[in-house]
Amino acid sequence: MGLRNIITIDGPAGAGKSTLARDLARRLAWNFLDTGAIYRAVAVAASEAGIPISSPGRMGEFVRALEVRVELESDMSRIFVDGRELTGLIRGEKISTLTSFISSFPEVRGALEGVQHRLGANGRLVSEGRDQGTKIFPLAGLKFFLTAAVGERARRRFLELALKDPSVRYEDVLAKMTERDGFDENRAETPLRAADDALLVDSTDKSKEEVLNFMEYKAREVFSDLF
Ligand code: DC
Repeated sequence: MGLRNIITIDGPAGAGKSTLARDLARRLAWNFLDTGAIYRAVAVAASEAGIPISSPGRMGEFVRALEVRVELESDMSRIFVDGRELTGLIRGEKISTLTSFISSFPEVRGALEGVQHRLGANGRLVSEGRDQGTKIFPLAGLKFFLTAAVGERARRRFLELALKDPSVRYEDVLAKMTERDGFDENRAETPLRAADDALLVDSTDKSKEEVLNFMEYKAREVFSDLF
């Protein structure tokens, strides 16, 4: 059975991957993995250590030497780097930009493959990111590529951010998101793209509930022997 009983959800920033992956995992009583959190935690560690972002080689060496541990919880992935939990430090805009940058380095991506494979070793995992269906779990039994128009993704992110900071501007959120999309899609190493066998889901005009119901329906169909 192994790697087959994995569901991958890939797609651009702000498409709702994390929420949907978490809620789908909850409905199926499977684990949920937020791989972006791993990249983000590593970016925090690199920033704290003052590793120059102009050097992919040194960055890769740094990341390879880190002990990255992930605790899968039903609503989040807790990331510990060299024994210290960094989960609380990974969500800022600066870290988002830095993460997008260093995750374009093949050296960094390679260094984080092992930890992701180990987390999938027992299956029953809903894993979300950018390359879960294409690279990390190519044998996954069910793959989604979740997207939405960039304006809609920026609107959702804006509403989320505005709750915490009323001075945030939609135009700025849209500009940042467009910039990050460009980076994730155009990097040479495993750029963001749908796996050939992924189901494409465009959530622009759909409610979260609609998308979640569709995903659950598909999961119960594909993995009917498990439910
Ligand atoms: O999903 P997120 O916004 O937390 O991801 C942060 C960054 O990490 C994003 O710019 C792309 C990168 N990332 C990646 O390259 N591969 C993954 N599997 C997950 C995230």
